[in-house]
Amino acid sequence: MECHSLMIAVFALLLVPHSVLARKPCNFPAVFNFGDSNSDTGGLSAVFGQAPPPNGMSYFHGPAGRYCDGRLVIDFIAQSLGLPYLSAYLNALGANFSHGANFATAGSTVRPQNRTLQQSGFSPISLDVQYNEFYDFRRRSQTVRNRLGGFFKPLLPKETSFGQALYTFDIGQNDLTSGYFANMTVEQVRDYIPQVLDQFSTIVKWVHSQGGRFFWIHNTGPVGCLPYVLDRMPVSPSDYDQYGCAIPFNDLAQTFNRGLKDAVVELRAALPDAALTYVDIYSLKYDLVSQHKKYGFEFPLRTCCGHGGKYNFNVKLGCAGKKRMNGKDVLIGKACEKPEVYVNWDGVHYTQAANKWIFNHIKTGAYSDPPIPLEMACHRA
Ligand SMILES: *[C@@H]1O[C@H](CO)[C@@H](O)[C@H](O)[C@H]1NC(C)=O
Ligand SMILES: *[C@@H]1O[C@H](CO)[C@@H](O)[C@H](O)[C@H]1NC(C)=O
Ligand SMILES: *[C@@H]1O[C@H](CO)[C@@H](O)[C@H](O)[C@H]1NC(C)=O
Repeated sequence: MECHSLMIAVFALLLVPHSVLARKPCNFPAVFNFGDSNSDTGGLSAVFGQAPPPNGMSYFHGPAGRYCDGRLVIDFIAQSLGLPYLSAYLNALGANFSHGANFATAGSTVRPQNRTLQQSGFSPISLDVQYNEFYDFRRRSQTVRNRLGGFFKPLLPKETSFGQALYTFDIGQNDLTSGYFANMTVEQVRDYIPQVLDQFSTIVKWVHSQGGRFFWIHNTGPVGCLPYVLDRMPVSPSDYDQYGCAIPFNDLAQTFNRGLKDAVVELRAALPDAALTYVDIYSLKYDLVSQHKKYGFEFPLRTCCGHGGKYNFNVKLGCAGKKRMNGKDVLIGKACEKPEVYVNWDGVHYTQAANKWIFNHIKTGAYSDPPIPLEMACHRA
């Protein structure tokens, strides 16, 4: 780019918030979500068994398909757009898809896994499978609406909703951890990040080919601050930062995020009629862990629900874990008394209080590129 056109580009960028704010809110009629446990509202639970109590204790007062004591960031997103919480696509019972569907499942990766859930702990419902589900849903929801009508009509989205909906993505964290847990080095994981990002871009383009125009893309969090990584993958003492997070894993998450941000820039060029918002979840989660006191949290790395060890986390006996004692199953992986002062719920996932804090910061656009609020995310900068 020539200096002159660069200056114009920079100037145009400075005008973004004003020009966008002068426009109307998007009134998204639906949200379609793709992701992993950070945004799973019941997918894995429907297929592989319900996330057991005490999951759901702070809000739903029972299991609600979420690996959390309450609501996830995606729940707060739906709520703030005036929409109901998203039903998991895989949930056959009581689901209502009139305002969107959730294709995320806990343990999902961008790249297909070659091992079963039993073997690896990662979901077979990778991003390509989530897309296949969406593709089928897109068509069959309309066939069913039109052919059967009646009872089904108020449970399914209108045809026009697909072009006006917000498509949200929060996936990639498990592509990083699946490599570590398979004993790959940080360098080996770094080497396959481009494959992960290529696959991600391909699938965003596929969703666009099905009418999706508005994309809200979360980057990945500081995996080096998660108890299940810290406990399972100890690093040398000099590799912890001043807050106790493992630097090599966080560095890698940031490498992934830089690549994701570039991929989003390329997607904007490839899809000129689409609006893509990149949301910096990493900075928020890291800020929350490192400055937890400032935000009213007492425990940044110790899990609320779990048992044992430095992080109150034990991979063999996690949150909701039971042990057979004197012929009875006794709950060992118990929840803490006050989840609202913990950042981490179960070693892998954030508490509802943390999720709400994160959401409050992303909805304004302050952590987005371009920096526009959630309800304006249909506008291209
Ligand atoms: C589905 O959800 C929509 C939006 O909340 C609601 O208006 C509608 O009544 C629900 N349908 C059924 C059958 O529950
Ligand atoms: C699965 O196997 C294929 C073929 O060997 C390989 O290209 C791909 O990278 C593997 N996927 C993962 C997640 O390791
Ligand atoms: C990784 O290494 C550990 C320790 O050597 C070993 O116990 C474990 O089975 C290995 N995992 C895989 C997936 O190879």
